[in-house]
Amino acid sequence: MSHSPSRPRRSALFVPATNEKAIAKLPQLACDAVIFDLEDAVLPEHKAVARDRLAGFFAERPAGNREFLVRINSLASPWGVEDLTAASGWAIDGVLLPKIATPRDIIEAGDVLDDNDAPDGVRLWAMIETPRALVNIAAIAELGRDPAARLACLVAGLNDLAKDTGVMLTPDRRYLQAWLMQMVLAARAGGVDMLDSVSNDFRDLDAFSSECREAAAMGFSGKTVIHPAQIGPANEAFSPSPEALAEARAVVDAFALPENAGRSVISLEGKMVERLHLAQSERLLARAAMIEKLKN
Ligand code: COA
Ligand code: MG
Repeated sequence: MSHSPSRPRRSALFVPATNEKAIAKLPQLACDAVIFDLEDAVLPEHKAVARDRLAGFFAERPAGNREFLVRINSLASPWGVEDLTAASGWAIDGVLLPKIATPRDIIEAGDVLDDNDAPDGVRLWAMIETPRALVNIAAIAELGRDPAARLACLVAGLNDLAKDTGVMLTPDRRYLQAWLMQMVLAARAGGVDMLDSVSNDFRDLDAFSSECREAAAMGFSGKTVIHPAQIGPANEAFSPSPEALAEARAVVDAFALPENAGRSVISLEGKMVERLHLAQSERLLARAAMIEKLKN
């Protein structure tokens, strides 16, 4: 099965759950998803207050089509189970699990959601940021095939991965290419989205834009971002280009011609085009339509 058009997740903005100023800014920001962070962006002494803040926020979920997620603390930490239990009752689209190592970590989180009667629409996202998660990535992503497991999306976490492996983070990410491509492949095999890691240097937007374009070329679904200025470049890089859209329309139009009705392969402007390209083109156009819908 090829990759079907999931909802756009071009930009997923991390917002520390304790940062009221940042939260107040959200209505003006065009990110496809918001991830409120209870984990590394919140000090231990503020964990409980941060959780209460989010409970207050979700008491009145803002209108709009974007997704809202909460990154909880690890279930192995002193706060994780309480975070997940609380989040089970919130009007959220998903919970992002940090520091997972094996498929079992996702199954256990799903069990907590089930036990607390979280709606089926509450999905699980998981950070791929430990060496074990990367080694086990195929089995983790495979859970995407089982709707009961709730897994919808994986998120690369290069800061933690660098800390735990010793790999050097360079601007061109040369030592990470193999691991990043492995993540994308596994995610596609499991039918889930794969988001690229945050980029810490939020003032250098030129470098950020080219990193986004490269990530899109590698097959990532979108980028996690930490600052409002990074949203525009991520949205742009992960949107179909005008050229790609024009080409997709041309393929759809060509197969719609009466003379091509019974044909599985045709010639279009000197190139071979098959029905698999038709399916691919239709998916691209569907994705563009979903992106349009997000603007409302
Ligand atoms: N979400 C929403 N708004 C944000 C934001 C975010 N993640 N980061 C910054 N802003 C807001 C600021 O509040 C500020 O608002 P204002 O215009 O009303 O004053 C504006 O954007 C400009 O911010 P700026 O002054 O450039 O940055 P900063 O010094 O306030 O913050 C960071 C820099 C890195 C501390 C901040 O962006 C941040 O906390 N990002 C998220 C970090 C995080 O969640 N990490 C965990 C996951 S990796
Ligand atoms: Mg991390």
